[in-house]
Amino acid sequence: MYEIPNLQSSDSKPSAIAVLTSGGDSPGMNPAIRGVVRAALHQGIKVYGVNKGYSGLIIGDMAEMDSASVTNIVQRGGTLLKSDRCLAFKDPAVRYQAAEVLKEKGIEGLVVIGGDGSLTGAHLLTQENDIKVIGLPGTIDNDIYGTDDTIGFDTAVNTALDAIDKIRDTALSHENLFLVEVMGRNSGFIATHVGIACGAEMIIAPEYEIQAESICFQLANNRLQGKGSSGIIVVAEGPKPGLTTHLAKQLNQHQLDPKVCILGHIQRGGSPSGHDRVLASCLGASAVDYLCAGFNDVMIGVRNGKITETPLQQIIEKNKKLDNRLFERAQLLHK
Ligand code: F6P
Repeated sequence: MYEIPNLQSSDSKPSAIAVLTSGGDSPGMNPAIRGVVRAALHQGIKVYGVNKGYSGLIIGDMAEMDSASVTNIVQRGGTLLKSDRCLAFKDPAVRYQAAEVLKEKGIEGLVVIGGDGSLTGAHLLTQENDIKVIGLPGTIDNDIYGTDDTIGFDTAVNTALDAIDKIRDTALSHENLFLVEVMGRNSGFIATHVGIACGAEMIIAPEYEIQAESICFQLANNRLQGKGSSGIIVVAEGPKPGLTTHLAKQLNQHQLDPKVCILGHIQRGGSPSGHDRVLASCLGASAVDYLCAGFNDVMIGVRNGKITETPLQQIIEKNKKLDNRLFERAQLLHK
């Protein structure tokens, strides 16, 4: 459960706002949209849903939403509003165009649900133009500074776990070693959580370099301890495509014959978990509270169970670090 701040509406309460989802989608974006829409209507604020993230915003592809627009979406994966990675939004002229679109419709505030790239766009939009923005952390990666948790992370971890539990069955039957690749280009949050929860023999995360030799050494050690020759190694995808296949080839040279299973985009889909539905609903509704209280240029997240804001500038400048001690604990558990 979350502690929700008791914010008071200011004189600058907007009369109309818009909401969009941007970047890689994540399970829970729908309950977040629902939270924004229902809280805005409750406050007597008009709310528009923008289609396809910043790409739709630039061309004014948006429609006014009412309570019925968000009926029956709390349990649905993906995003009702669709999403996009809009490279054009890196151009200040394009951001100006987006601000003009919003102003023409009398929209004073924008809620952006997405990852760090999307939140950077929101920050620049408000810095350069007279539009208020509130960001919400929507990404399965959980790699955003200023929040302990992101919308979709819990579901993605559980989706990966469900798959790995099945892989474990066949791995045991055939005494196979599996390298299972989970998402996370620059961060090992998914890999670490999934690795702990599935009882992986090893976790490979972009934050920590590891040589094929030490993987072999550890696996040999496990076998000496009578742990059998089957096993699961959870590998974060890392910055370069093909890392896991490359690792498998390296292990081949050390007389190991691992099977590679890349879980890929299934981790981004599916019905949001109960945890993500509650998180997303609370953050969505809080985004409206913060706009009404006069906040701008902040992301609303959760820290120590409390809904709280962090300036977008900090979100951009700082990296959320994988907890070393959690990673060490994970290594200890599968020894
Ligand atoms: O940011 C979310 C994420 O799912 C990452 O985990 C992954 O690296 C990336 O998006 C994949 O993005 P795309 O679908 O655009 O290739």
